[in-house]
Amino acid sequence: MLFPLIKEILSFPADSRSLKIRGWIRTKRDMKNLVFIEANDGSCFSSLQCTFDRAQGALNAETEAALERAGTGAAVEIEGKLVPSPASGQAVELAAESIAVIGDAPGEAKPGIAPYPLQKKRHSLEYLREIAHLRPRTNTFGAVTRVRNSLAFGIHNFFQSRGFQYLHTPIITASDAEGAGAMFQVTTQNLDELAKTGKAPDYGKDFFGKKTSLTVSGQLEAETYALALSRVYTFGPTFRAENSNTTRHLAEFWMIEPEMAFASLNDNMDLAEDFLKTIFTGALKDCAEDLAFFNTHIEKGIIETLASVCRGTFTRMTYTDAIKELEKAALNKSDVFDFKPYWGCDLQSEHEKFLTEKIAGGPVIVTDYPKEIKAFYMKQNDDEKTVRAMDVLVPRLGEIIGGSQREDNLQKLEKRITEMGMKPEDYSWYLDLRRYGSAPHSGFGLGFERLVQYVTGMANIRDVIPYPRAAGQAEF
Ligand code: 4AD
Ligand code: MG
Repeated sequence: MLFPLIKEILSFPADSRSLKIRGWIRTKRDMKNLVFIEANDGSCFSSLQCTFDRAQGALNAETEAALERAGTGAAVEIEGKLVPSPASGQAVELAAESIAVIGDAPGEAKPGIAPYPLQKKRHSLEYLREIAHLRPRTNTFGAVTRVRNSLAFGIHNFFQSRGFQYLHTPIITASDAEGAGAMFQVTTQNLDELAKTGKAPDYGKDFFGKKTSLTVSGQLEAETYALALSRVYTFGPTFRAENSNTTRHLAEFWMIEPEMAFASLNDNMDLAEDFLKTIFTGALKDCAEDLAFFNTHIEKGIIETLASVCRGTFTRMTYTDAIKELEKAALNKSDVFDFKPYWGCDLQSEHEKFLTEKIAGGPVIVTDYPKEIKAFYMKQNDDEKTVRAMDVLVPRLGEIIGGSQREDNLQKLEKRITEMGMKPEDYSWYLDLRRYGSAPHSGFGLGFERLVQYVTGMANIRDVIPYPRAAGQAEF
């Protein structure tokens, strides 16, 4: 039988029933007649207070010895009765009778073992990143992990309840889904040996018989299934070898990509807005205790921010109108932006911040970007300058979702692929979708870690994934 989790125990009534709990000690206070241990098992934010009362009769020698040994971080098993707590801030506590130490966590150095690094004090997030294998035992990372779990579940629920089928797209691929080239190569060739011969690699003799990489997006494969099953979504790892050392970029991140047949850009925007609001509403309900922590200690007001996003409507504007707003702002105050906005420029994160925080006061969906700054597969507008793209921007983070209606016209798509210096023959299977049973279709990609960042208020994307991979960082 599985042992009861603290989350489950806290929902029991305090009926003096005997219980045995397992967890790790957060704090221990020995006050002569009373010893208080806060035990946490990560099942919920709260720890369970376990009170040992020597006045109620001496604790046996084994328990006294274990209490002496049990320090912060130790794994323990505690037996007692669940009773109403006289202390404020908790409804129940364990009137503890015995404790056994399952695994020590020495607070002082021992031969071959440094002191447990998570002593009872506040540690910086930078320091915790260096001990990423132990940080899940802190309040912050326990909470991030539970919220991440809950959001993942909510995302599956959202799509499943709307008729989207969960699709597994390949991780190793021979095509560049974004046509942007920032891919990690996959090879079994011995590069050291190859370097010695001075010969160029022969990809025909490589494992797959061609040059392959880790995928940057499952979109192209998702499109093939959307044009058969109508609505699909992916939720998997994606990889980008962009050397951007920012608080919003990872080299390995998880992406959610819904793709819908017979859907326009407007349908796509409606889906994205409904999606984010539903996910935020679910998080407010299911992660209340963890969000209360983020609201107090990480990002003040995050709960109200999420609630107000759910109540409101996302501002929608075209890229052209967005540039007009930005140019107006730059004209009024010359130093408002480091990078001067102009029609045709890629929106910088300062521009995205300005649009969401100063113009809209909330999320903004920017549409119809210049085709030069967007991927080859986006549907071209009749003006021949812009494409049916949409980016969902949010305050604090900027872009959280990128998507578009897809080009469903064979000739236009072929022409665009060629114009962008790519080879149509590399995409012949993708072009087949436009040859046989082509239909308007649309989809988007949400960066899962950006979503977790938004919901928790965590400033750095490296702190919302267990083991971040970024340029120069692949520890653990
Ligand atoms: O805008 P992107 O590049 O769009 C695509 O990949 C499309 N194929 C999506 C689609 O239409 N199906 O990426 C989508 C989202 C971004 O909005 C951002 O949230 C996230 O993925 N993202 C990253 N997140 C973390 N680290 C990175 N390096 C990211 N690059 C993109
Ligand atoms: Mg994008």
